[in-house]
Amino acid sequence: MKIGVDYYPEHWDKALWEKDADLMQKTGVEVVRMGEFAWCRFEPAEGEYDFTWLDEIMDIFAERKIDVVLCTPTNCPPLWLYEKYPDAVMTGRDGHKIATGIRGHRCYNNPDFIRHSKQIIEKMTRRYANHKSVIAWQIDNELEANFCHCEICIGEFRQWLKEKYGSIEAVNKAYGNNMWSGEYSAWEQIKPAYGSHPYAWFNPSFMLDFNRYASDNMIKYVKMQAEIIRKNCPGTMITTNTWFCENMPDFYKTFQDLDFVSYDNYPITKIPENSEEYYSHAFHLDLMRGIKRQNFWIMEQLSGGMGCWMPMVHTPRPRMIKGYSLQALAHGADTVVHFRWRTAVSGAEMFWHGLIDHSNVPGRRFDEFAQLCKQAKELDFIDGTEIKSQVAILYSSDNEYAFKIQPQTRGMYYLEQMKLFHAAFSRYGINVDIIGQHEAFDGYKIIVAPQMYVTDEDVVKRLYEFTKTGGSVILTNRSGVKDENNKCIMSPLPTVFKNLAGVCVEEYDPIGEDTVALRFADGSEYKGRQWCDVLCAENAKVLATYDSQFYKGKAAITENVYGEGLAYYVGTVGEKKLYNKLVKEILLKSKVDFIDGLPENVEVTIREGNGKKVRFIFNDTDNMQTFSLKGKELCLAPFEMQIELLDK
Ligand code: GLA
Ligand code: ZN
Repeated sequence: MKIGVDYYPEHWDKALWEKDADLMQKTGVEVVRMGEFAWCRFEPAEGEYDFTWLDEIMDIFAERKIDVVLCTPTNCPPLWLYEKYPDAVMTGRDGHKIATGIRGHRCYNNPDFIRHSKQIIEKMTRRYANHKSVIAWQIDNELEANFCHCEICIGEFRQWLKEKYGSIEAVNKAYGNNMWSGEYSAWEQIKPAYGSHPYAWFNPSFMLDFNRYASDNMIKYVKMQAEIIRKNCPGTMITTNTWFCENMPDFYKTFQDLDFVSYDNYPITKIPENSEEYYSHAFHLDLMRGIKRQNFWIMEQLSGGMGCWMPMVHTPRPRMIKGYSLQALAHGADTVVHFRWRTAVSGAEMFWHGLIDHSNVPGRRFDEFAQLCKQAKELDFIDGTEIKSQVAILYSSDNEYAFKIQPQTRGMYYLEQMKLFHAAFSRYGINVDIIGQHEAFDGYKIIVAPQMYVTDEDVVKRLYEFTKTGGSVILTNRSGVKDENNKCIMSPLPTVFKNLAGVCVEEYDPIGEDTVALRFADGSEYKGRQWCDVLCAENAKVLATYDSQFYKGKAAITENVYGEGLAYYVGTVGEKKLYNKLVKEILLKSKVDFIDGLPENVEVTIREGNGKKVRFIFNDTDNMQTFSLKGKELCLAPFEMQIELLDK
């Protein structure tokens, strides 16, 4: 495991550079990331480049054997570029250029911006192609699938539609445009969602394509950069740092041609008072690992109290700095780079704390970071190990977009049911993969397919096949609702999943923030919320029924034997303990080994490979946890991680 820091030499007086690098070396830092916002220092005026300062700091790191991740600086074009080429600025939904002065204002298709981006990337990659310290390139920074409303981008969108549908008639048909007299008779009539109306007022079929296009367009921009880097620096790894943002790109397509996934990991530092609230960052880590189904990096890791555009939140408690880095390792991160070395003293982010405070006096958090660096060097035995899972949860960008376009009921959001299942499986100490729905299902015993809302025929077919040949599949409410164009399917719900689940939804009740009572066959009682699919169990066995509302007595959760496997249908959203009960039953029936009796939020994962098996036990709570695991008494301090090499 390697530990690194994000470093911004351009923010600090040169007199600090060597001192910082010395302290990094002494502390055990092995990687620094630099450059993503420094374009104005690399090209102070059009065509005038200055990399001498970067050469200098690169050499300082090289002398200390600290590796470097260099970033393309395209997130922040210099002001001269925006001044000379005002069209390089993104156009907003009001049809006007957005205000500059922050960062990331660029249009991904503007020819002047692209030309200048290509030039700076060419210059940088050529200059550092043979620099021995460069171990990877990061493209831009936290790219979002933003949609720019300029004429060029609209033209690109129309082109994308032409390629997808061939004719305007096909677009009209796919979108059902005869609603509200929305039929197009010419391509030019296709306009983005201008104005201030919520997106939910626009045709959802159009909006889904609009999102798909925005993602493809961002990926085109990533590819443009990757090609230049590959040409000039063959053999050096390429990534981009991603996160869960407002305009999420399709993660799977984004990283298809890149070498590894990197993620910006900021676990929350306030432990919620409501124990129903999900807070572990393990879910996000598993999703990141699932993008390429391989180990990944953290490119920005929690280092201090966060704040700036939002009021500041709790400073990381003792052991969080170290514990959360090791939690990332436990879920497949091989390198963890902390954001940032020192807290900025200027700019909007001056209260998003780094490892060292404004005072420049290393304190408690830094000491913990130093311990982490020391421990990382003793963890060589983990190299080459990976997470292997028998349980997978399916994620899809289409569903992500479609639920954002049309929120289904108050409080419901796409990731929540995934997180609830993830938490329940984690309760039993087993590894969980979160994978794209287009990935192969081989090797899994259980697949959780929550809210399969926008239908992809191929995925449906593979889920039938998986279950038929002995797998267990868990389906939930809002499945089979839409076709691939985000139009409703005219057939009883869950439409394409009806035979697999052996149930039919008689009617549904979006109860939002209200609750419903549920009763299992053994008499145990739980609360449901958000949504109630009132089920008619045709072939399936009823596991739980509603115990309130006008559908009291009707089925809520069912189990169906399909071929050699089992298909579960969960018609409502429950409290955490409901998932614990259900998941335990499913694990038993699916013959997956698990650990019973772990305290809540104590996470156990296994990494294996190279003839080794390593167990990670993480106390993700702010209480001391004492418990027994396979006959051994364990006592873990808050946010403490225990790493153990097991006998194979
Ligand atoms: C993101 C960005 C960083 C910085 C941090 C903290 O992760 O990539 O540049 O803005 O958030 O604010
Ligand atoms: Zn544009």
